[in-house]
Amino acid sequence: MKIAVASDHGGYVLKEAVKAHLIEKNIEVIDLGTDSEGSVDYPTFGKACGEAIADGKADLGVVVCGTGIGISIAANKVKGVRCGLCTSVEMARLTKQHNNANILALGGRTTEENLAMEIVDTWLNTEFEGGRHQRRVDMLDQM
Ligand code: RB5
Repeated sequence: MKIAVASDHGGYVLKEAVKAHLIEKNIEVIDLGTDSEGSVDYPTFGKACGEAIADGKADLGVVVCGTGIGISIAANKVKGVRCGLCTSVEMARLTKQHNNANILALGGRTTEENLAMEIVDTWLNTEFEGGRHQRRVDMLDQM
């Protein structure tokens, strides 16, 4: 399993923490940047992560900006991406069970680190339910 991670400056600190958390679990991580808290543009990094998933370079992705909003919008512009912004463990469970989200978005300025790790673990450890949700995911993928 390979997970791509990407952030802007507002998500840099949390992206680094997520990366360390995944590496600790022996998950291979592809870090698409950014590399510091210097100001950058979140669309660049959301797009890079989306394309890594769409091109099959990574199986899943985690994107982080200040709120998670801008970078999730950017990732979702890439065909085949289903990026879910999660601020709770319940949302993390449901975005895998129902949306089969292949990218998780987090807010570096809005979600504290311990909760973010619980969100990451829940999203990773939850299975997609399929069934009626498969039809809806197929509809998304055709847009
Ligand atoms: C950057 O200041 C901030 O706008 C960005 O990290 C993000 O929150 C956008 O949605």
